Parts: sequence; C-alpha cells; structure tokens
Amino acid sequence: MKLVVGVTGASGVIYALKLLKFLQEQTSSEVHLVISNPAEIVIEHELEMDKKEFQKFAAYSYEIDDFLSPIASGSQQFDAMIIIPCSMSSLAAIAQGYTTNLLLRAADISIKEKRTLIIMPRELPFSPIHLENMLKLANLGVHIVPAAPGFYHKPKHIEDLVNFVVGRILDLLHIPHNLFSRWPSKKTKRNDS
Ligand SMILES: Cc1cc2nc3c(=O)[nH]c(=O)nc-3n(C[C@H](O)[C@H](O)[C@H](O)COP(=O)(O)O)c2cc1C
Repeated sequence: MKLVVGVTGASGVIYALKLLKFLQEQTSSEVHLVISNPAEIVIEHELEMDKKEFQKFAAYSYEIDDFLSPIASGSQQFDAMIIIPCSMSSLAAIAQGYTTNLLLRAADISIKEKRTLIIMPRELPFSPIHLENMLKLANLGVHIVPAAPGFYHKPKHIEDLVNFVVGRILDLLHIPHNLFSRWPSKKTKRNDS
C-alpha cells in the first residue's frame, strides 16, 4: 500500500509514532510523511524527539511547503491518507478546501480523487464549529476517528490505549494486526451458557 501520513500540531503525536512504527516494522507499506510546523513543537514536547528522529519512521518525508513533492499532485496514485492527530485548524482548512501547505493539499487531493482519507481529530471539548467541520467531511466520505479509545479490552498501560486507536485505523485500511483483543475478549464473562 502507498500511504500518506500527515501529522499536525494537535496533542497525541504518540498515535502517529505508533502508526508509523507499525507500518514500518509489520507491513510492506510505502509511507510518505508530512509534518506541519506546529506538529514539530508538539513532537518535541510530548515525545522529546526532534523532527529528523521522527521522520526515520517513514520511507519518504517532505517539508510542509514542498509543493513539488509527489504527494502534491493528484496524478500520483496513493491508496490512503491518514492525518494523525488532526488539529482543529487543519480540520477547518480541509473542510474549506483551503490548501496553504502540503499536508492540506494532500488531504484536498484525497477528497477530490475520492480516496480513503482518515482524520483523527483531537480537541476537548469540541465546539459547534469543530463538529460542523467534522460532519461536512464525514458526509464527503472522510473517516472521522477521534482519539477516543474503548476500555472494554481492559487497558493497563498508555500503550494499550494507543494501540486500540491505531488498531481501529488499521482496520479501516484493511491492514491485519493484533494490537488489541477484539470483542468479545477471552476475559469477557458471559451470562449465557
Ligand atoms: C503542546 C500543544 C498541544 C496542542 N494541542 C492541540 C490540540 O489537541 N488540538 C488542536 O486543535 N490544537 C492544538 N494545539 C494548537 C495547534 O498546534 C495550533 O492551532 C496550530 O496552528 C495548528 O496548526 P497545524 O494544523 O498546521 O499543525 C496545540 C499546540 C501545542 C503547542
């Protein structure tokens, strides 16, 4: 699979790191990564990692203003794009088709070419503006996958929560994984005999 991964300046870049690591270590996917400028700050803050270190988890990386890169053109065939995490700012820009950087341009292409686009929005609480933008995109076929892990798989560590959300994204991409136990888990007690 040829995938574009976009990382914006929302909290939860740990989800992006897990997704990239999984794709690199467990699949033969070709990953093209683009990181916004605010995302660099969040990566430094939350992962204590610099951009170069983070970029090692993708085969191809582009600068945010590199409109000459392959992912800037609809003529390049990509199977899917995942924006993880997605800030409310990038969400709004995508919903309006306002493509002022490479990440937004790649998302705009995904929509116009009717390709799989998965967005993991992160904010709390959501305002009506955020919700309207999400609804608009969902109605266009964009997958809105909030960073909202379930707890029915009985997570013990932060990694279990991250794996759940990343696993659900992999499900949407039809990439097999064992990142969490599916419902009903072996631990689930059933009343029926
Ligand atoms: C540590 C940190 C965490 C942030 N978390 C969020 C967040 O969860 N959601 C959000 O919409 N913006 C968040 N922001 C603000 C965005 O980074 C800011 O709106 C920025 O303009 C987003 O630009 P981008 O979409 O191009 O990355 C955060 C900023 C920082 C520094």
